[in-house]
Amino acid sequence: MYSARYEYDGRNGHSERIDFLNSKEKAPSKRKTGIIIGVLVALLVVAAVAAFLIWLFIFKDADSEATLSKQRSPSVEVFSGHMKLVDVPYDQTLEDTDSKEFRDLAENLEAILEENYKTDPFLAKYYTKSVVTAFSEGVIAYYWSQFDIPVEDLEIVPEFSEERVLDALENGIKDQRSVTNRRNIKIREVTASHTDPRMARNPRASKCFYRLEAEEKVNSFSSPGYPTGYPSQSRCQWQIRASEDNVISVSFPFFHIEDDCSDDFVFIYDSLSPDDSQAITQKCGQRPPSNPLEVVSSGNIMLINLITDTIVQRPGFEAEYKAIPMSKARTCGGVLSDNKGVFTSPLHPSFYPPAMDCKWTIKVSPGNKVRVKFTMFRMKEPGVDTRVCHKDYVEVMGTKYCGEMSSLALTSKDNVLEVTFHSDESYTDKGFSVEYSAYDPADPCPNKFTCNSGICIAKELQCDGWNDCGDMSDEMKCQCGKDQFPCGNGLCKPRLWVCDRVNDCGDGSDEKRCGCEENEWRCGNGVCLPQDVVCNNKQDCVDGSDEASCKTSPGICSDFSFKCKNKECVNKVNAECDRVNDCSDNSDEDGCNCGTRPYKLNRIVGGQNAELGEWPWQVSLHFLTNGHVCGASIISERWLLSAAHCFVTSSPLNHVASNWQTYSGMQDQYKQDGVQRRSLKSIISHPDYNQMTFDYDIALLELSEPLEFTNTIQPICLPSSSHVFPAGMSCWVTGWGALREGGQTAQLLQKASVKIINDSVCNMVTEGQVTSRMLCSGFLAGGVDACQGDSGGPLVCFEESGKWFQAGIVSWGEGCARRNKPGVYSRVTKLRDWIKSEVGI
Ligand code: ARG
Repeated sequence: MYSARYEYDGRNGHSERIDFLNSKEKAPSKRKTGIIIGVLVALLVVAAVAAFLIWLFIFKDADSEATLSKQRSPSVEVFSGHMKLVDVPYDQTLEDTDSKEFRDLAENLEAILEENYKTDPFLAKYYTKSVVTAFSEGVIAYYWSQFDIPVEDLEIVPEFSEERVLDALENGIKDQRSVTNRRNIKIREVTASHTDPRMARNPRASKCFYRLEAEEKVNSFSSPGYPTGYPSQSRCQWQIRASEDNVISVSFPFFHIEDDCSDDFVFIYDSLSPDDSQAITQKCGQRPPSNPLEVVSSGNIMLINLITDTIVQRPGFEAEYKAIPMSKARTCGGVLSDNKGVFTSPLHPSFYPPAMDCKWTIKVSPGNKVRVKFTMFRMKEPGVDTRVCHKDYVEVMGTKYCGEMSSLALTSKDNVLEVTFHSDESYTDKGFSVEYSAYDPADPCPNKFTCNSGICIAKELQCDGWNDCGDMSDEMKCQCGKDQFPCGNGLCKPRLWVCDRVNDCGDGSDEKRCGCEENEWRCGNGVCLPQDVVCNNKQDCVDGSDEASCKTSPGICSDFSFKCKNKECVNKVNAECDRVNDCSDNSDEDGCNCGTRPYKLNRIVGGQNAELGEWPWQVSLHFLTNGHVCGASIISERWLLSAAHCFVTSSPLNHVASNWQTYSGMQDQYKQDGVQRRSLKSIISHPDYNQMTFDYDIALLELSEPLEFTNTIQPICLPSSSHVFPAGMSCWVTGWGALREGGQTAQLLQKASVKIINDSVCNMVTEGQVTSRMLCSGFLAGGVDACQGDSGGPLVCFEESGKWFQAGIVSWGEGCARRNKPGVYSRVTKLRDWIKSEVGI
């Protein structure tokens, strides 16, 4: 009985439970001991069974009922596609859904569809209606068909396949006696693809339906209610056409839809029906002006859908559309014979058109070779395995590339290199941009090191322990120097990194044999203990490191533990704001509205100018009439975090809050759009700040007026004092500081990727000047660093939880970007409790 009830549900868990019940019931009958024992056992079992049944009926039933009724809503299956009509003359009036011509032909076709489905009793049973939504030259008719499946038949839903629908339609077309012939309409080719019912609209009955004609000149349209906000439950459609031999380009100068694509989204098709096999893209979220959405059709039609289901109001979008001659939009490739240059996917950075093939042949003088570097590569499609790239791809020397890549550099075998590009009928993307150049194979990188990929890097970066080439080739076959440790895998790492508990080699060889035996655990202080002290719910190492990264170690509170509000300790690395409730009072996930960037950004490889909205917590501090002087970061609507040395100077003017102006949401020092200016109300410098040593270089700044968070103004997450930013982690430092030592401050916000440097190395290279309130980050090889004017700005790291955390505050350094002189930062984790005690954040 139970299983029958649950069969419908189809979940294995329940039937297992029922088997268990049966075996328990049978158990007593097998016993052949005394009657009394037997009766007792039987009674016990009956009691157990009764309890189980009560539970099953009362409690379990209650929640399974809920799940059942949730699944018990009728299903609507929609298929959409197009069909080609033969011998029907094309007439412009067919484009007007209100014309008699449109109605006559549409009704005829709808009747044909209906009769074709009737040939399959299964489809006939659930068929509801078909709607012809448009015609285009060819003559192509676009349609969708709807099938309604009542609750009692829900189990047949999987049988509704595209194949089944297509079969019915194709058989109808082939059948000579069929209604198609009786009605004197010949149909050739028909497609059908499973479609989200929300996108099946009837142009003759829909409210939010528009027909637009794209011209050479730009026209525009916007979402309903723009810019105040779109209504929920919107189902809008824009059919766009252009005259023959044109394609349609649509760009969205403003785009702000709900972030969750399952509720609200824009879906664009290279067709007049919402046919997934001709989808161009589906988008939601918000896009900054630096990364606008811009799509192009392959022919002279396009369909745009807006679906909104949330109650949250968002402004919506503004769109500009125009026709581009097909000859212009669809020409690509060619022979490139300059010694260097750049080429891109068609129409880049706009989305490339669907269904295109291009070939570029780069030909340089004989004896030379070609090097190509993709500075941007984005060809992502849903459901594509990037190892196979069976849809859109770029092919170079027999290898196909697709997906998203941050660095791709290749070199040719001789003086000719071919790059081919293919896009299929569905889904397109931003494409790529390539720099190419000729080089002399005898000296590919004059005065530099040549990576296997062919790119050149500074000689000093070779064998320095960092993977600078990206393919590790600069760290292979190294003769380790006397201050370097030879890793098991052939890499060389600074000796100081050995036995520092960080797997620097990658193969663990630098952390093996660190004074402890194979089966021993090494505590943070070097003491060896038996391996089983790890995660045994008992603090064995003095520093608690044996219980530091366990799933559960209740009661153990060490420096490594996250402390919940209720004083409970969580022994999990970086438990705060990781979207998992670790504390029983959930306090580890409190105040986690931070460290995210609302904009969907361009991913441009290389290039140090930051994009608008990329570092929304960055603030520029201006002093009197001196302009930008220091950086800071937003930690709440009212408070900024910065460095004490910006305020505690020999000049008393620096201490005065009203002498400072803060600019949030800024990228360009000369642009004020979207920037919020606030003066300072108070400055709290750390009482232990030491002007000689820069120890405790931290200050809290109170704003005169709270900030209003926007796309470009957001707080950064502060790490808990137990947060770990491991050595080797790549983080980012940002600021308008000098572009080189002794140089001027920058006009545009700059970003640089730097690595967290191991503490013992940090201590060595700074000759012991770092305290535990400081950390080093940068590159021992030099070349990348913060500089004058960056002070007070944040060093931020992206955590797997999807949030950015501030690890450091730009504090000091010897010069800028010098070899073996990394940047020194105030260590936020060590100063975390002070921040909390001062401002409660
Ligand atoms: N103290 C400098 C300032 O006031 C920042 C120095 C950072 N230097 C470095 N090499 N990381 O702007």
